[in-house]
Amino acid sequence: MKLLVTGARGMLGSDFCLVLENSGHEAAAFARAEMDVSDLRRVRQVMESERPDCVIHTAAFTNVDESERNPDAAYTANTLGAWNVALACSEFDAVAVYVSTCGVFDGEKGAPYTEFDQPAPITHYHKSKYLGEELVAQHARRHFIVRPGWLFGGNVEHRRNFVEARRREALAKPEIVSAKDKFGSPTYTVDFARQVIELIRSEAYGTYHVANVGSASRYEYVREIVEQLGLPNAVRPVGSDFFPRSAPVPAWEALENTCLKARGMMIMRPWREALRDYVATRLSAEVHQ
Ligand SMILES: NC(=O)c1ccc[n+]([C@@H]2O[C@H](COP(=O)([O-])OP(=O)(O)OC[C@H]3O[C@@H](n4cnc5c(N)ncnc54)[C@H](OP(=O)(O)O)[C@@H]3O)[C@@H](O)[C@H]2O)c1
Repeated sequence: MKLLVTGARGMLGSDFCLVLENSGHEAAAFARAEMDVSDLRRVRQVMESERPDCVIHTAAFTNVDESERNPDAAYTANTLGAWNVALACSEFDAVAVYVSTCGVFDGEKGAPYTEFDQPAPITHYHKSKYLGEELVAQHARRHFIVRPGWLFGGNVEHRRNFVEARRREALAKPEIVSAKDKFGSPTYTVDFARQVIELIRSEAYGTYHVANVGSASRYEYVREIVEQLGLPNAVRPVGSDFFPRSAPVPAWEALENTCLKARGMMIMRPWREALRDYVATRLSAEVHQ
């Protein structure tokens, strides 16, 4: 099977390409400079020349606060981009895999969300991603919509690398403050990619939550990162109003993998175990080079 990855230089896109290579799949990696997904003509051109069986669409404008200030940038890259990928997948008979987000809900549930909860996004970024879901569902005949939890992974150069950002913060100051009232499911990019490959093989098209098992507040997550990195820093829980932001991000973004479990396809492990793996096998090796 030949898979084409969009946003291939991003944190998730690059780890997805690594997992594909290690599992013996043919991968065609397209970064923004080679294929801007908001350009339908270019997307069609690439599909025509590459003829993939499946497109893993990870590319997105991922700055949540900037999306609030400049919504057009988010809707162009995320909504129009997903629409273009979906159209091209239909035209070239490829499966579309759209990486959406855990933040499509209003965050008021007070518990992890399942695929049967009604999305009601509250920021421009999350609206742009959710509209992308609707367009993929409408226009790509064979599609998966996959919603990851709070992603970690990639290399130390990735600007979205949350674990590395906390490591640098810990080196710069003795105490880290973190929100105790925002909840999510930390999810390793590599585990996410492996689970998505299993899903693609199943041909059981549709919408799935794909997160490592369990949930945590940002504070609990950061405390675990500091502990696993073996750093001495204190982590102090604060309310999220401590951090002035342009985007009113939802309080609950934790996910339950209800549909993966129901279909007997779940291979996701607990998030702490996945974090340990990432820190021990990849991050430590990079920062000690
Ligand atoms: N990180 C998380 O916690 C998280 C959680 C849930 C869902 N997600 C989703 O996971 C996916 C990957 O996110 P990530 O964390 O890996 O973010 P990332 O590191 O910012 O990767 C996104 C990539 O997409 C590229 N891109 C932006 N606009 C593009 C366009 N118009 N055409 C082609 N490529 C474009 C970016 O290139 P430039 O750097 O050149 O702009 C970047 O390389 C996204 O769809 C995101 O919505 C992320």
